[in-house]
Amino acid sequence: MNGKMPRKPILAANWKMNLGRADEAIAFLRKIRPGLSEIEGLDLVLCPPITVLSALAELLARTRIGLGAQDAHWESSGAHTGEISNAMLAQICQYVILGHSERRATRSHSESDEAINWKVTAALEHGLTPILCVGENLEQNRAGQTHEFVSGQVKAALAGVAAKQVERSVIAYEPIWAIGTGEAATPADANRVIGLSVRGALAELYGEDTAQAVRVQYGGSVTVENIGEFMAMPEVDGALVGGASLKADFVDLARAAAGR
Ligand code: PGA
Repeated sequence: MNGKMPRKPILAANWKMNLGRADEAIAFLRKIRPGLSEIEGLDLVLCPPITVLSALAELLARTRIGLGAQDAHWESSGAHTGEISNAMLAQICQYVILGHSERRATRSHSESDEAINWKVTAALEHGLTPILCVGENLEQNRAGQTHEFVSGQVKAALAGVAAKQVERSVIAYEPIWAIGTGEAATPADANRVIGLSVRGALAELYGEDTAQAVRVQYGGSVTVENIGEFMAMPEVDGALVGGASLKADFVDLARAAAGR
């Protein structure tokens, strides 16, 4: 880190397609909210399914806990059946996860780098903070292509985005082979890829100051047991948590992330 402001850690919960019924989402939130509300020194964000976003926004209104969506279309409105726009989300929440590997996957939405770039641009235009996901698959990892692939994803997603906008964005490095598998990357590997490939790409695009200002999370099988080791890494500014964010002990995970 340089001599500037230290980066405030950020922990985000990606509920994916879970807890999307109002009764279950509200009951779960009531369980974790008191504990989460007490945590300081860390930005906390919950990203539930779109069906419960408004309900949760009300329940989180007077807390420090942030709210995010899991995707958004790049256009503000129009003939896009089934889509939700960044402009619409900006009324309800502050963050949006973009480019998650589960949406990039061909068996899912086959999202291209270009579409993700449009989405990031639109999110920033509407004042949302994008949580941009990048990460290599197992074959790429084994073939030694991680650096090239991840830095390429970062550059493609940020094409044409101004440095000031990038500085308030969040990037999540999520190796695909680590997501939902129980096999997290080693903290040292996560630290190396984030430093070399994510911040390296940012430095090439925007210079070292911007590269040092952007918060970069690790994601992939983060648990209450391993979060402390990731947070201890100098390049890792937090985590994007899937499975472990659906359990009540997410509060313990958040406490551990905040170093308490
Ligand atoms: P996981 O998911 O924590 O269940 O591995 C992380 C993610 O996909 O964001």
